[in-house]
Amino acid sequence: MCGKNTIQQMIETMSLITSGDLSKRVKATRSGTLNQLGLQINNLAERYQMAQETIRALNQQLRKSNLDAIMALTEALAAKDPYTRGHSERVSLYSMLLSEKLGLTSEEIDGVYIASYLHDVGKIGIHEDILNKPGRLTEEEFEQVKAHAHISSQIVSQIPNLSHIAYVVRHHHERHDGGGYPDGLSGDEIPLGSRILAIVDAFDCMTSDRPYRKAHRPEEALLEIKRCAGRQFNPELSDAFIEAYGKSYGHRTLHMSAS
Ligand SMILES: [Fe+2]
Repeated sequence: MCGKNTIQQMIETMSLITSGDLSKRVKATRSGTLNQLGLQINNLAERYQMAQETIRALNQQLRKSNLDAIMALTEALAAKDPYTRGHSERVSLYSMLLSEKLGLTSEEIDGVYIASYLHDVGKIGIHEDILNKPGRLTEEEFEQVKAHAHISSQIVSQIPNLSHIAYVVRHHHERHDGGGYPDGLSGDEIPLGSRILAIVDAFDCMTSDRPYRKAHRPEEALLEIKRCAGRQFNPELSDAFIEAYGKSYGHRTLHMSAS
């Protein structure tokens, strides 16, 4: 009877181990054979636990390496185009604000945050004279600037563990009405992260000083987003951003703290 209960307990513990629950161990018994079997099951649980801890540590290391790669890329771009440094940081924070308002999962928010940080990294492949040109771009220069969406996504797709956000980066200049680039996607064809990014990117551009104009006030930029909702921007996401922004920042921007 005692042996039967012990075997039952072993089967239950094995079943927990294989399902990933490593909190239980088999109790010692008087029977030499069963005790030996119990020790082996406990030994297996210990080894599983050590393997899980190693995987966790490797994932953390990989995440740190990814963040180091991101920082190196954004620093390289900032050296070429100083405007983008504060811009990437602020756009990431605004993206997070809107993603949280929309109730995205922490994994999705993380993806949109990183995509926002890297969305313009492809500008590294564009000449400084064009990036920093104070006047209006020629048609040919504008075509070169447009290529940054594709180049950014190519760069991001090469970073281990970030290839899944490359398509969010690629489509951050698409428009709700299909008039954007690089692929002319419209409405829900545009990935959600890219729809979010399009709104917050435009907001930060409008509220930043540029070589050719002074920054707009946040309330003016929000009115412009409202005006362009349904044509340039997704209307529901535009409303959500206007509401979330008003609640978090009122009439302030992140420029003082993030630049
Ligand atoms: Fe861009």
